[in-house]
Amino acid sequence: MTAEALSFGSLLPSIGAGAPGPVSRAMGERLRRVESRNVTFVDDGWPIFWAEAGGANVRDADGNVFLDLTSAFGVSLLGHRSAPLERALTEARLVHGMGDIHPPVAKLELLERLVELVPWPDARVVLANSGSEAVEIALKTAARASGRPGIVAFAGGYHGLTLGSLATTEREHFRAGSEERLYGGVAFAPFPDRLRDSNGGGEASLRAVEAALDGGAPNGDPIGTIVVEPVQARGGARVPPEGYMAALSDLAATHDVVIVADEVFTGMGRCGAVLASPRVGLRPDVVCVGKALGAGLPLSACLAPAKVMDAWPESTGEAIHTSTFLGHPLACSAAIGVLDDLRDGGTLEAVERLGTRLREGLGEKLGGVEGVGEVRGLGLLIGIELVEPDGRTAASGAGVRAARRLLARGILALPAGDQGEVLEITPPVCMTDEQIEYALEHVDAVLGGGRG
Ligand SMILES: Cc1ncc(COP(=O)(O)O)c(C=O)c1O
Repeated sequence: MTAEALSFGSLLPSIGAGAPGPVSRAMGERLRRVESRNVTFVDDGWPIFWAEAGGANVRDADGNVFLDLTSAFGVSLLGHRSAPLERALTEARLVHGMGDIHPPVAKLELLERLVELVPWPDARVVLANSGSEAVEIALKTAARASGRPGIVAFAGGYHGLTLGSLATTEREHFRAGSEERLYGGVAFAPFPDRLRDSNGGGEASLRAVEAALDGGAPNGDPIGTIVVEPVQARGGARVPPEGYMAALSDLAATHDVVIVADEVFTGMGRCGAVLASPRVGLRPDVVCVGKALGAGLPLSACLAPAKVMDAWPESTGEAIHTSTFLGHPLACSAAIGVLDDLRDGGTLEAVERLGTRLREGLGEKLGGVEGVGEVRGLGLLIGIELVEPDGRTAASGAGVRAARRLLARGILALPAGDQGEVLEITPPVCMTDEQIEYALEHVDAVLGGGRG
């Protein structure tokens, strides 16, 4: 093995014939001939085609090496091809089973580990394959448990694009054309906005939630569920103000409403704790996790205490919610490895350390720079909000433009926020010192700090 192969994962970017290079561009053209046009955006400067990934590095089809500040949608928190994933792949004796009929051993072992993550001694779990599906299960469960179909969700929140979860995802971009298929009993409340509301926005948000709890959903349905991300992830790493989530939990309790914490992005270590809810004072009745849970294999879960989950009747032979790949043994084995790592490996502390270093480093470089509103986040869920010269108005599309310029410098990052006004940084925890310095220097250069 060459030295480069050995160190792949901790390399600095190296871009040969441009990013995207000729091979990726040709593949982009081929893709446009076979994939529905609503899926992958293709133009002269986007995308690159991934060929290999390890640690914090991605190699594309042109042989360019990138530094991945996305962890591929937040999934590879432990790095690409992390030890738990490699172990699951190399030790696999069972790849597919019959999850809800004759369960794989690994499913049982994973469920026994997952229930230890939540504060309910009698927690119960339903496994699934994607974040959206975990949210679907949570919404079904909460409707049964509360007996009221209406839902409160938040502007800027993202819960997935399947019809049930999409009903709680407000963005017009995703809903247009499907509106008549979506459940109309969702009341959207504003999420606290520290940048634009001098009081942090918590009060106004809580008043809107209370009005919906008292007055019902737009279609008149009584509200039985609140679905919320502890930190809005795709909404732009929006961290609620101190005390907000505790007050929301109190409101839910006094109105006897089920709170669903959508921890698909924030959970499994991303925010420096196994679950972010306790960190922000949220006391959920149902928790959804996904993304980092499977270390790169598709896996998600919905957890709730028995008193909530037992709103489902007992299975009499045919599962009432399931899917073909439920309890996928390979993904379950990887997830057990992820849980071992989070418990034993010092990863949570490392997430906190790296997150603080990146936020402080970015804050130092970008503080006072025109067009940069705020550097914020929790753990390794970091957002840089970009603004117009007035310092308050979201700079629509500025995160998208920054992500494109970073790509040319060998850095993968994604835009976030309703208008693409945020540059989101959700890197793996295994970045080296050199990679950290490279990232800080080039994000600074692209966002106008002037030293690049
Ligand atoms: C908070 C949150 N919930 C749900 C989802 C949907 O997950 P998936 O894309 O795996 O269906 C996402 C995806 O980004 C998410 O960030």
